[in-house]
Amino acid sequence: MVLIYPGSFDPITNGHLDIIERASAICDKLIVAVGNNERKKYEFSTSERIKLIRLTLGDRDNIEVTEFSGLLADFARKTGAKAVIKGLRAVSDFEYEFQMALLNKSLEPSLETLFMMTSVNYSYLSSSAVKEIARNGGNIEGLVPDCIKDIVAAKLAHR
Ligand code: COA
Repeated sequence: MVLIYPGSFDPITNGHLDIIERASAICDKLIVAVGNNERKKYEFSTSERIKLIRLTLGDRDNIEVTEFSGLLADFARKTGAKAVIKGLRAVSDFEYEFQMALLNKSLEPSLETLFMMTSVNYSYLSSSAVKEIARNGGNIEGLVPDCIKDIVAAKLAHR
């Protein structure tokens, strides 16, 4: 089974990493798909976001990290993935994710969306929170993977 884990990853956090580790353990191949939400302004370019994910993951046999543009339903069709996996942090995520899952299903009826509960340690975490802390000189240790902590902090310091 091929699963797609789509997101903005601006930047990848330990919460995303938790979902990637657990999702990749229950499928044959996980495609981490870095896309763009038209309503968001990103701090990291698409290639920077991909690089940070690759640095975090290193070489993994069953994980592919790639960019996608356009509709997620079209990308899923192209890759042959049967399902999309998303992390759910709290009730507040539900309404938006429910809407996205239904829209994606209306665009591609064979595409399922699966939800994985984010580990409780990361339920408060978001990429925006990481960026806000780093911009204001706060410590992001434990919030993003150790190997990218300094890169993220340096890019965002005093912005
Ligand atoms: N740990 C930490 N943070 C998490 C998390 C977890 N397990 N799960 C979600 N989040 C956070 C993210 O950090 C992000 O935080 P931010 O808002 O501060 O950046 C937030 O939850 C939501 O991010 P994400 O899941 O990446 O969704 P998104 O809204 O940025 O969507 C796409 C990005 C690319 C997946 C989406 O816009 C898309 O599918 N676009 C294609 C167009 C399309 O097909 N649209 C659907 C039909 S209209």
